[in-house]
Amino acid sequence: MSEPMFTKAIVRKPARSLVHGITTHPEFGKPDYELAVRQHDAYVKALERCGLAVQVLPALEEFPDSCFVEDVAVCTPRFALVTRPGAESRRDEITGIRGLLAAHYQVIEEIKAPGTLEGGDVMMVGEKFYIGLSSRTNAEGCAQFIKALERHGFTGQGVRMPPTLHLKTGCSYMEENVLLVDAAFAGYPEFKDFRHIAIAPEETYTANCLRINDYVIVPAGYPRTLAAIKAQGMKTLELDMSEYRKIDGGLSCLSLRF
Ligand code: GLY
Repeated sequence: MSEPMFTKAIVRKPARSLVHGITTHPEFGKPDYELAVRQHDAYVKALERCGLAVQVLPALEEFPDSCFVEDVAVCTPRFALVTRPGAESRRDEITGIRGLLAAHYQVIEEIKAPGTLEGGDVMMVGEKFYIGLSSRTNAEGCAQFIKALERHGFTGQGVRMPPTLHLKTGCSYMEENVLLVDAAFAGYPEFKDFRHIAIAPEETYTANCLRINDYVIVPAGYPRTLAAIKAQGMKTLELDMSEYRKIDGGLSCLSLRF
């Protein structure tokens, strides 16, 4: 890829309270904070290797899920959006985000009540954005975001959701018309024109990989997805995500990229 898609990223350090993060997988156990910090450091290094200048925000102890900074904003090429998280315990994570984004964007939109939207439900495919109508993003939030997109010359489309946390928990765009697709999204007409990499049932966690410029970042320990992405001729970086997986966090959740 000649022109970089992204040049900057924002991340937030994990808080010690991360052990109390929301999870649909209590059977995986509580995250180990020290290991989570080391994994986060490796994540920042990987973003830098992809060519990004990374701004690291301090931990917010009062918000266990706040390292998943992707959910509080959407960064498009023409404007940024401050979201309104659907999870009550995460709603006030947006405090200070507008000011932060103002250093990078002239135009900042926002989701207003009763709309809710989390960035994990937003998948950018060139000029079009797919928006998962999940338990975190409601129809009103989706409609507000589509109006904002259209004001800036983009398009948006809501996507009905299986019982999956976020849209990008189950599918991720790898550029070059390649979509990683978990079985739950396999037959979706919205996605029929992409070349699919079908995620194996034992590797569902890898439906959330991260394409950044010339690299695809892949969770470590999942050989089938890794091989399938390499078979596309894409360069890969592997990162251990064990502690974030325990609280439903994926690679994309840990950063805003723009
Ligand atoms: N634990 C990540 C989330 O539920 O948003």
